[in-house]
Amino acid sequence: MGLCLTSGLAGRCELGQLAVRGENLRGQAFGEGFGARRSLGNVPLAGPAIEPVPNFLERRNVRDKGRSFLGISSIMKMHCVSRLRWFVLLQGVAGLWLAPASVSAQPAAAVKISVATKNFAVDFEVGEGGRLYQHAVGVAPGKLQRADEAYPQAGDGYIWEPALQIVHADGNTSTVLIYDSFTRPNASDGRELTRIQLHDPAYPLQVTLCFRADRDRDVVEQWTEIVQHEAGAVTLERMASTAWLLPATNIYLTHFFGDWAKEMLSPITEAITPGMKVLDSKLGVRADQFRNTSFVLSLDGPPAENHGRVLAGSLAWSGSFQCAFENDGDQVRALCGVNPFASAYHLKPGETFTTPIMIWAWSANGLGDLSRKLHRWARDFGLRDGHQIRAVLLNNWEATGFDFDFQRITGLYAPAKAMGTELFLLDDGWFGNKHPRVNDAAGLGDWQPNRQRLPDGLAPLAAAAVKRGLRFGIWIEPEMVNPKSDLFEQHPDWVIRQPGRDLELQRNQLVLDLTRPAVQEFEWNTIKEILSVPDITYAKWDCNRYLTQPGSAYLAPDRQSHLGIDYVNALYALMDKTAKQFPATELMLCSSGGGRVDYGALKYFHEFWPSDNTDPTQRVPMQWGYSYFFPALAVASHVTHWGNRPLHFACSVALSARFGMDLDLTKLSAADQAICAGAVSAYKHIREVTLLGDLYRLEAPHGNHRGAVSYVAPDQARAVVFVFQLKDGPSPAVRPQGLDPAKKYTVHELNPAPGRAPMAVEGKTFTGEELMRDGIAPSCANGLEASVIELAL
Ligand code: GLA
Repeated sequence: MGLCLTSGLAGRCELGQLAVRGENLRGQAFGEGFGARRSLGNVPLAGPAIEPVPNFLERRNVRDKGRSFLGISSIMKMHCVSRLRWFVLLQGVAGLWLAPASVSAQPAAAVKISVATKNFAVDFEVGEGGRLYQHAVGVAPGKLQRADEAYPQAGDGYIWEPALQIVHADGNTSTVLIYDSFTRPNASDGRELTRIQLHDPAYPLQVTLCFRADRDRDVVEQWTEIVQHEAGAVTLERMASTAWLLPATNIYLTHFFGDWAKEMLSPITEAITPGMKVLDSKLGVRADQFRNTSFVLSLDGPPAENHGRVLAGSLAWSGSFQCAFENDGDQVRALCGVNPFASAYHLKPGETFTTPIMIWAWSANGLGDLSRKLHRWARDFGLRDGHQIRAVLLNNWEATGFDFDFQRITGLYAPAKAMGTELFLLDDGWFGNKHPRVNDAAGLGDWQPNRQRLPDGLAPLAAAAVKRGLRFGIWIEPEMVNPKSDLFEQHPDWVIRQPGRDLELQRNQLVLDLTRPAVQEFEWNTIKEILSVPDITYAKWDCNRYLTQPGSAYLAPDRQSHLGIDYVNALYALMDKTAKQFPATELMLCSSGGGRVDYGALKYFHEFWPSDNTDPTQRVPMQWGYSYFFPALAVASHVTHWGNRPLHFACSVALSARFGMDLDLTKLSAADQAICAGAVSAYKHIREVTLLGDLYRLEAPHGNHRGAVSYVAPDQARAVVFVFQLKDGPSPAVRPQGLDPAKKYTVHELNPAPGRAPMAVEGKTFTGEELMRDGIAPSCANGLEASVIELAL
């Protein structure tokens, strides 16, 4: 959306109109001094009387001797009076509001707007000054104060962390937002859109707070649109996607700390005490290396699985982000969006800036219910083909690394097929000629198949897989380049770097500057060419470094701070094109593991690679962490030798999400082959339940000797319970949840470990009520043993 008025017409007419309006509102919108934390509405203002301060335009005009402010506005109005009719007409046609408040259907002070789902609402109200306020989530409406402003702006009296900070074209560093109107373009379809329009009375600048409320899933998506028609560019210093207010009493934040091979491994739950807690990334790409954009706020003390009010937040953005939680002593404001650090964005007249989407999900019944609703939302709207089961995948990375050729790879097909594999993924190392990709030091950027390893290219490799009854997938890392490559030799200016500084490499590579159209074209052609090879129906899109020298030789000197935002938007355009042009090609999102796991990128993908760490004892807590926000359908979980754990344990852990293997099947013992084959067939048997069913987290693994989860089919006819005995220790009965109490389920262990005594209840039938009350004594009892138990009618 954007204004289509010419800036001359709109600018002059608006200035006249808006200036008059600014005068009318003086003393309400402009008259509050710093530190004013006073009531609006009918409640008398407390504290010392504050002299109204002339607003910026008035001050400017006081200096501009001889021409009064009203004088100017009258001249302007006269000047454009004949055009004004057109202007008003255009406003009506565009559905955009730029006229005085009297155009609003109701007096602003009476307007209340509720963005509501079945069990949740965030309530807004227009205060007397025409500003928009929010009632803290879950708190009975009380008197409104300045600190309650819905989307607070810097520079005109608001003293806490603002959502919006703008430098106007004339240098004014303050912004004031006054309510205009709200619209509900699609009030009835279960995903209601609400658009609340605000404007600055002194400038032709509009801000629209947008909400999409998913009624049944209790999910609200929020984003902000900013459009301006000032005489020149304005600079957005800070532009949050969301700025919700929450009660400060008993509020806790759960977030995840990690690193490469430790992604989402360590949940931290802490009270949000007065002051500010910031989760952020300044990494530009691979932004989630140390923390993810997803978190949980709990309103009744530390969160619990089955009770308490909880709000999950997940920012759909793959670049530098900031989620800040400010406790001002009375309430907490959650500000999430693009990281304001080094991200000043110059918005030209007529341009619209749209922030990333913030996804909020609500439950009054704890984390379990919260995740189930968020998973349903993700299957419907957050992922590609979210209702389609996923294939058994065999990846060669752990098996061969960079060391392979045509014979070696095709030699893996027959055992893969015999094992029941459905999809073969060829990882890194297949390209580069002048600088062959035989290790990670060379070849990135040169996407031609290596002639020595694959003399006839990729097509025969893919065809041979298909001939064996396997689908074929390929690894790509289109955003990157090794200095040791043809590409870099030809285009040294295509990389992101700072002039005059030594190149800083990570994994021997650099990031290509996607803001440059030639790079966009190069990357698109690369992707198009590779994915057009017949029989390629899957790709793993990797991204193995972050930004440390964020400079672009393409962007103008005064646009350098656009790099992070423009990069991500160009990346999304590329991903979007890929998804559209190759709708049947499944995509895995990878970034040295889980360095890029957010719903901004995920909507173009089917699944993600959570971590290079596939040690099953680590994957249990990691996958638990991801499961708060992402359904098992999206979580690629592979059996490997990492950690040297018993293969049965590794298989059982991999079965609890999208199952795959990263093993040299030819080197497995007969016993291990049987375990893997059993796991593959168990996966095919249960995947409708695990990938498309409802998750119940039963026993948290963190710091415990055991972890357990279960999945229940939507019709409750089947369930699968996973018990992971991480260490030696007690192994009591595990209590499933979510069963139909009246239905009778037969208990059966899938792919039981060879030599272990069967469960006492193996093959017996119980009601759901009995199972949930008494539990099931699993067969696993010692460290590094696991049980996968099916409950079926
Ligand atoms: C990254 C990925 C791995 C693998 C390698 C290949 O580290 O996370 O799974 O694909 O790249 O270089």
